[in-house]
Amino acid sequence: MTIPAPVAVALDAPDLETAALWADLVTPHVSTVKIGLELYLRYGPDVVASIRGASTVRVFLDLKLHDIPATVARSARIVARLHPDLLTVHASGGPDVIRAAAEAAPDTMIAAVTLLTSLSEEQLGLIGVSANVHDTVLRLSTLAVEAGARGLVCSPREVGAVRAEVGPDIVLITPGVRPAGSAPHDQARVATPEEAVLAGSDLLVIGRPITGAADPGAAAAGVAASLRRLAAVAGTPAPR
Ligand code: C5P
Repeated sequence: MTIPAPVAVALDAPDLETAALWADLVTPHVSTVKIGLELYLRYGPDVVASIRGASTVRVFLDLKLHDIPATVARSARIVARLHPDLLTVHASGGPDVIRAAAEAAPDTMIAAVTLLTSLSEEQLGLIGVSANVHDTVLRLSTLAVEAGARGLVCSPREVGAVRAEVGPDIVLITPGVRPAGSAPHDQARVATPEEAVLAGSDLLVIGRPITGAADPGAAAAGVAASLRRLAAVAGTPAPR
C-alpha cells in the first residue's frame, strides 16, 4: 500500500452527501480531509463523524477560532470531543489564546493561522498594522509556536521564511496550492504542489482543483503521484 500524500482536501461542498462522497473518493490517496466553517455550521459537530466514517483519514477542522482566551479554551475543549487531528486558531488572537487552545485540546494539533492570504498589505495598514505581510507572518509564527501551536497555516510564498524561523518540528500547512495547469480561482498567490513542498510545506491544502475535477479520486491520485515523483528525485521528507 502506498503512503497517503501530505494533502488536505478542502471539502467545501454544498451539502453533506457531496462532502462525504469526495472524502470517500480521495481518502485512498491523501492523508487528510478539511472540514470548514460552512459545513460545520450547516450540519453541526456530527459532521466530523459523518465525514470520517470508518476510515483512518485525518480530519482537519478549520474553524479558525478567534475570541478571548477563556472562550477559546471552552470551545476547543468541546471540539476536542470530536477528536479532530487538527484545529485552526487565529494567531492574531495573541499567545494566551493559542496557549488556551493547546491546553484545552492536548490531543489535537493546534494550527495557528498567521495572516489570511486574502489580506493585502494595504488592508493590513487599514486595520492598523504598520509592518509588512512578511514581517507580520514571521512575528505571528514565532508567537504562536512559543505559545504551543504545533502547526502554522501560511501561504506557500512565506513558507520558506517561516520554516527558517520556526525550525523543522513545526508542521507548516499551505493553502493556495494549484497543480500546474489548473485554474487559480480566487487564490491570488499560488504555488504548485511541488513548489510548496520544496519550499518547506508539510501539508498542502487543495480544494477545487481536486473536488471540482470530473473524477476527484483521479485528481487526488495525480497530485499524490506527482509528490511521490518529487520525493524520489529530491528526497523530500516523509509525510506527517
Ligand atoms: O479550493 P481551494 O484550493 O482554493 O481551497 C482552499 C481552502 O483553504 C479553502 O477551504 C479555504 O477556505 C482555505 N484557506 C485558504 N487560505 C487561507 C486559509 C484557508 O484558501 N489563508
